[in-house]
Parts: sequence; structure tokens; C-alpha cells
Amino acid sequence: MYHRLAPVAQSNPLLPGYPFNAWLVAGLTPIGAGDPLDFFIDRPSGMKGYIINLTIKGRGQVFSGEEAFECEPGDLLLFQPKTSHYYGRSPESDCWHHRWIYFRPRAYWSSWLVWQDEKRGVGRLRLPERLWGEFERLFTTIEQTHTSGKRFAEELAMNLLERLLLRAVEEDPRSHQQIRDPRIIEACQYVTNNLAGELKIDEVANHVCLSPSRLAHLFREQMGINLLRWREDQRIIRARLLLQTTQEPIATVGRIVGYDDQLYFSRVFRKRVGVSPSDFRRRSLDADTLVTRESWDLLSASQ
Ligand code: FCB
Repeated sequence: MYHRLAPVAQSNPLLPGYPFNAWLVAGLTPIGAGDPLDFFIDRPSGMKGYIINLTIKGRGQVFSGEEAFECEPGDLLLFQPKTSHYYGRSPESDCWHHRWIYFRPRAYWSSWLVWQDEKRGVGRLRLPERLWGEFERLFTTIEQTHTSGKRFAEELAMNLLERLLLRAVEEDPRSHQQIRDPRIIEACQYVTNNLAGELKIDEVANHVCLSPSRLAHLFREQMGINLLRWREDQRIIRARLLLQTTQEPIATVGRIVGYDDQLYFSRVFRKRVGVSPSDFRRRSLDADTLVTRESWDLLSASQ
């Protein structure tokens, strides 16, 4: 018998009500028949970020009625943002264990996030058995790296996630990777080289010989977000790195990445990262600078 729990705000990501206010959250959901996790995950309007999950034991069921399909060990599923989530243990199986990662992608990952086999916003890739161990280890390493509390925990976890997504695309026999329009690549390059400047769409459009409206349309189509938002992503990524690796004052870091007004910089930073630039720097300094030996061992074992 499935039961649904009312979503009350709480701190366990395996139960309804967890806020997922983060760039990355990873975990394992081990569902056994009749135990407290044995309910259907039901998020009719989906989530802000993507979810990738890997079935490692038993079988799961996604959606219900005519649209329902099952997943089994070695199946990778990718849920697009805002796509409805409805999944749980298949009634035919006594358990469903799956590893999952919730994430807000880097802008340039967008073309790896459109999978060939997709149903109602859920992509599916069945991995051959020889790859199950490699992918499961990647999921585990991402979770361990992210929760290690070390200085670059999130960057390294994102870095491993990028590897996981690339490996998935590489292993998909049907992936005819969309080749990105060279004008969009050039536009990205131009924006990156002028991160600090007061950039106007007209100027970028002019540089890549497109009309402003054509550039805006093509950029969104190929990158999944609009150009100004993409630039903000790049500014914040760069600011995080500068805060972690230099001793420049916060105001200077803000200026380097294009925010002359320190208060405004702090506001945007806090909105995107969840903490102020100075808290972010303090936390990074407190953390150990070394990558855990175990992470590397796990990663090398997966190769
Ligand atoms: C957990 C679910 C898992 C995934 C994450 C985001 O509660 O068990 O499948 O949806 O939330």
C-alpha cells in the first residue's frame, strides 16, 4: 500500500518538504516494500533544477496509467526542470534502490541535457552491464565529494557530475550531439572576454554578425537560457573562484567580474550562491584545501 506524506518543511532530502535550495544535492533512496520511504515521490510541477537518477536494485515505476514505465538496474533517468515527478517502487518488485543527483547545471552543459529517448520530459538511457559499476561509483563519489566539507567540495562535485553527464552522452548510441552554431560559441567567448564591461546585446550581435533578436533567439535555443542570465552565471562562477583563490578585497572581486557597486554584487551573489561573498570566502578558508584521498581512490577505481 502506498501512502503520501504531507510536505512539511524538513531537513531530510528523502522526505517531502525538503527545500532543495542548492546547486547540487546527491543521495541514495533505498525503498523497501512497506518501509517509511515506500511512497510515490509526487511533485506535480517538478523542481527548479534537473535530477539524474540511477537504479541500482529492484524496480521503479515512473508515472501512472498509460504513460507508466518501469526502470531497472542500469537505467539512468534524467528529469528536466519543471517536469512532473511521479515515481516510486514498482508494485511488481519488493524494493527500489536508486541513487540521484539534483543539480542546477553550468550553462554550457545544456546540449548534454537533451536525451534522445525522452518521454514527458524524462530522458532514459539503459546502460550495458559492464558500465554499471563505473556509473554507480561516480554517483557515490559525487555525493562523498560534495559532503566532504573541503574547500572545493562543490566545484569538484560539479566537475565529477560533468564527467558523469558526458559519459552518459558518450555511451548513448543514439546521441547525435547537436553541433553548436559557431556564432554562439563566438558570442560566449566575447562575453567571457568582456565580463567586467557594460555589455549591450547589440554590441555582441554586431560582433557575431547577427541581428539582436536573432542572436537572442539562437542563444536561448542553443544554450537553454538567455544571454544576460548566462553572463551572470559566468560572473558568479568567476567571483567564487577569485574569492577562493585570491586575497583581493570583496569590492575588487566584484569590480573584476563587472559589479561596480559592492552592495549590488553582494546581493546578486547571495541570491545565486545562498551566502554573502565574505561568508563564502570564510567557509572556503576554514575548509581543508586538500582533495580527500578516498575521492581520488574511488575515482581511479572507476576508470
Ligand atoms: C528524494 C527522492 C529522489 C529524488 C530526490 C530529489 O526524496 O527519493 O528520487 O527525487 O528526492
